[in-house]
Amino acid sequence: MTATPTSVTVGTTLGALAALLFLIADLYVILHMVHTIFAPKSKWPWLENMGKKWHPIHYFGNIALVIVMIVHAIIMAPYTGFWNWLLFALIVWMGFAGIMIRFSHISPKAKASLSRFHARWYMILIVLVLLVVAHLVSLQTFPYVLG
Ligand code: HEM
Ligand code: HEM
Repeated sequence: MTATPTSVTVGTTLGALAALLFLIADLYVILHMVHTIFAPKSKWPWLENMGKKWHPIHYFGNIALVIVMIVHAIIMAPYTGFWNWLLFALIVWMGFAGIMIRFSHISPKAKASLSRFHARWYMILIVLVLLVVAHLVSLQTFPYVLG
């Protein structure tokens, strides 16, 4: 086992930062998914209140996440494979679609179409599954010890 290069330490630290930003920006979205899947009929007023306040955190937290993730992915590029790049494409898509839905002046019909592939509980489920699977796959061949 050789010593971990500084670039890899920077890369994994940015990964940890990306994970933190993801959790902050999408905590409401994850809880809302849990509610939709496991208790669709029960009312969770605290979650509704949380949802009302969540929007700016969701928008700007995720824009920061996309930027940090791109740098993380470029640095980790030598140790990645197909699943990580699929995750990369999905997160870039989510960021792009979110910005179009919130900040662009395209037609309401176009925004509704984008929303079907952004603002739905199954999209956050796909992101979470892919995030875990992609990292488990690349971890098999990752040559350094994670600190
Ligand atoms: C990794 C990045 C992102 C993920 C995984 C994500 C995921 C989601 C999900 C699952 C929803 C549905 C929320 C619900 O349960 O009701 C949603 C809603 C929404 N997202 Fe995102 N999103 C991301 C980035 C962004 C960005 C960068 C923006 C805009 C700057 C954005 C704008 C919106 C808007 C406008 C909605 C619908 C209305 C609202 O709740 O504000 N998203 N997002
Ligand atoms: C939302 C997106 C992402 C998050 C939250 C994330 C988070 C993380 C975290 C927390 C680590 C472990 C750091 C440590 O334990 O010190 C990590 C490692 C790693 N990440 Fe990411 N990452 C994301 C996207 C990506 C993408 C798009 C790529 C490549 C294209 C990538 C490639 C890697 C690699 C190769 C490692 C080394 C360990 C392993 O293979 O599992 N990551 N990431």
